[in-house]
Amino acid sequence: METIIQFQNKIISGKCTLYLCSKKDNLATLGFDKNEAAYLQKKLKEGEQYILINRLTSLVFIQFTDDLSQKNVFEKLECFRMLGHKINVAVNAHHFKDLLLTASENNLEEVLAVAEGCALANYEFLKYKSEQKNKHTLEKILIYTTPANKKKITELQILINAVYTARTWVNEPQSYLNAVSFAKEMKAFAVASNVKAEVLNKKQLESLKMGGLLAVNLGSKTPPTFTILEYKPKNAKNKKPLVLVGKGVVYDTGGLSLKPTLHSMDTMKCDMAGGAAVAAAICAVGEAMLPYYVIALIPATDNRPGENAYTPGDVITMFDGQTVEVLNTDAEGRMLLADALAYAKKYNPGLVLDFATLTGAAAAAIGSYGTVCMGTASEETKNLLKSTGNLVHERLVEFPLWDEYAKLIKSDLADMKNIGGPVGGAITAGKFLEKYIDYPWMHFDIAGPAFLNTTDGYRGKHGSGVGVRLLFNFIKSLCDQ
Ligand code: BES
Ligand code: ZN
Ligand code: ZN
Repeated sequence: METIIQFQNKIISGKCTLYLCSKKDNLATLGFDKNEAAYLQKKLKEGEQYILINRLTSLVFIQFTDDLSQKNVFEKLECFRMLGHKINVAVNAHHFKDLLLTASENNLEEVLAVAEGCALANYEFLKYKSEQKNKHTLEKILIYTTPANKKKITELQILINAVYTARTWVNEPQSYLNAVSFAKEMKAFAVASNVKAEVLNKKQLESLKMGGLLAVNLGSKTPPTFTILEYKPKNAKNKKPLVLVGKGVVYDTGGLSLKPTLHSMDTMKCDMAGGAAVAAAICAVGEAMLPYYVIALIPATDNRPGENAYTPGDVITMFDGQTVEVLNTDAEGRMLLADALAYAKKYNPGLVLDFATLTGAAAAAIGSYGTVCMGTASEETKNLLKSTGNLVHERLVEFPLWDEYAKLIKSDLADMKNIGGPVGGAITAGKFLEKYIDYPWMHFDIAGPAFLNTTDGYRGKHGSGVGVRLLFNFIKSLCDQ
């Protein structure tokens, strides 16, 4: 179920409401009765910044924002999203259906951040629950503001829907979401979002000689797919497209190099989170009709042991003709990403961004608190990506692509091997991908933040949809340049 975020042209009383206040404000003008005013004063004296008044038929939230003045813009916005999460929990606990937020010219971005946090926190995945108990009741977030801000509200709605979609794709188990059904779902979402879609099937991939993707697929009973999404508006600001590439491993057992440790396979339905993120992002861009030419490529398969599965010791000829000695079939993501990155050359891209749950090493390095990135894009592009990461709190940490790491993937037998040594695992994966590019490129290893085992505020639990907000806002800034 989607959460509706709606422009509201008049104030309606009796709804759950939030007041963002300063201690200097005259609270008497906000319409609290005597008892409420006294309660507020008492709470304020006790040092509370967040106060909830339960009016039985509605809730009133008062948040004092004075203490936020020490924080920077990015930290502030994140506090407002987290406030949105807190409000969401209260509204649902009290079974209310809507929330009214008021935005003035001075605090529009803050209020939108509250709405964003609240809407993202409202996501649920209940498809496989027979009893739909304790379902969220919040249906609508109404934003009372001037009509001039309507477009921003619509864009937020589009973005939230895209994050919901990406999360649902990640949360769907592999018995439902295999390479074929994933491609079908992406196509359907694209077609509804002004985005063209083409799905290459196994036969087409064979005639293209997509060796990496086909090798990973050998152990599977389901054929691989390669989804191509294209959004090319007439008023595009760019001639050379921005190409997005996403890892679409719908389930990763490790293949014959079966995942070794207890529970390491439990959440491996999330291994298509990169594909989900880029597909959802291009659809949001299309739906919002942003003036930017974008293409997304999503190679998809599961990775399993099987009669015919690719093996350690095998040598694979990739789409671009380079050869790879496979020394661990669990390093499968780079095999299919390499093919997609090489395929991207045909579009003469201005920039390529790939998203992948690629290495446990990236997750081990920084946990779920950010995304590891690396690449060859210009400093200007890197800076814009990093500042967008801070803006949406999908923070980026850049790892180096020093030449020395390339030695670690040298093979005696083939042009390269698909694993490095015991150190720098996220980087050697990046070095592998670098061999398939001839354009400005950034790689985002989302193995840490893509799937959350415990609730993390509005990011929720399980599929987080990481990457969608980063990409959408990055493309928006490119349009504004
Ligand atoms: N899908 C995994 C990476 C992963 C780990 C994603 C944890 C999400 C959470 C990837 O295909 C993988 O297995 N990588 C190996 C590479 C190694 C064999 C070189 C890894 O990181 O252990
Ligand atoms: Zn793997
Ligand atoms: Zn994987």
